[in-house]
Amino acid sequence: MGRELAVRLVRRGHQLRVATRAAARADELLPLSSVEVHEGDVYSVDFLRSCLDGCDVAINLVGVLNAPGLAGAGFRRAHVQFTAALLAAIAETGVPRLLQMSALNADAQRGRSYYLRTKGEAEELVRNAPARLDWTIFRPSVIFGSDDSLTNRFATLLRLSGGWLPLARAHARFAPIHVGDVAEAFVRALSGGATSRQIYELCGPQVLTLEQIVQLTAAAAGRSCHAWGLPDALAWLQGLAMQCLPGKPFSLDNYRSLLTDSVCHGAGHEAPGIGTLGIEPISLPALAPQWLAPVPRR
Ligand SMILES: NC(=O)c1ccc[n+]([C@@H]2O[C@H](COP(=O)([O-])OP(=O)(O)OC[C@H]3O[C@@H](n4cnc5c(N)ncnc54)[C@H](OP(=O)(O)O)[C@@H]3O)[C@@H](O)[C@H]2O)c1
Repeated sequence: MGRELAVRLVRRGHQLRVATRAAARADELLPLSSVEVHEGDVYSVDFLRSCLDGCDVAINLVGVLNAPGLAGAGFRRAHVQFTAALLAAIAETGVPRLLQMSALNADAQRGRSYYLRTKGEAEELVRNAPARLDWTIFRPSVIFGSDDSLTNRFATLLRLSGGWLPLARAHARFAPIHVGDVAEAFVRALSGGATSRQIYELCGPQVLTLEQIVQLTAAAAGRSCHAWGLPDALAWLQGLAMQCLPGKPFSLDNYRSLLTDSVCHGAGHEAPGIGTLGIEPISLPALAPQWLAPVPRR
């Protein structure tokens, strides 16, 4: 998200300061002349204050799908503690605007996973910020794009397993949204007053089950696919086992997030959607072959 958004903001004439824990991870942004990369302790209010000084807008994209620590400690640190430090730095520097990245189903009380609960807690901090801060919160469904960890991860797993894939929560529903559409929503939020103090739910044009996403990925990558759904008890065990593997390809917390469909709530629901920003989102099947299709041999 960060890379996609940075490129779009620079194209629209914005100057950026990117705060990161490791500047090397922002290498691809260095050729952009109006981007400064600041490496430091992102939990330090002093560091954040130095990054925000003189800025018109703060954008919080920090998020973790897997985090160390007991009782959600790693999630709470990245989502809640970081947002609290950012809000403190915003208050000290007088930055008037904040765009906050959240996730569909974020809910401090009812979220099924630590990921969703702590994203909800971070939203509450933002919503309760002093009235002089003008905020917008974005809640996307799963995000896809050429560098995503959705289709690319499934393509790798299909390659390694010869197409045999036991799936947790195979019938969980998503509305995958393209990274460019999410970035565009952020950019448009900066150019109009209507997004002030609003929470946007961002969904792509199609609702797909996890199994359908895997099948689409396989078709686009030209691979065979024999995906089947696991009963919940086995899926839970899969989460327990896989969270011990290097890189945590799947975890119990991911399993718990999958217990709630990641889809928008539709017309009549209080949260506006991507259409209200004038964006017509692109579908996953239309685009996935662009980065998944096998390269023809010469
Ligand atoms: N990808 C999706 O499907 C999806 C769906 C809904 C919502 N979101 C949200 O969208 C945002 C961007 O997602 P993404 O897919 O672009 O994720 P990403 O590539 O993993 O980027 C997340 C950023 O968070 C920072 N970060 C990670 N762990 C951290 C930690 N422990 N402490 C402080 N900072 C940390 C990293 O910054 P540095 O490494 O530069 O320090 C990283 O660049 C996240 O908030 C995510 O929750 C993503």
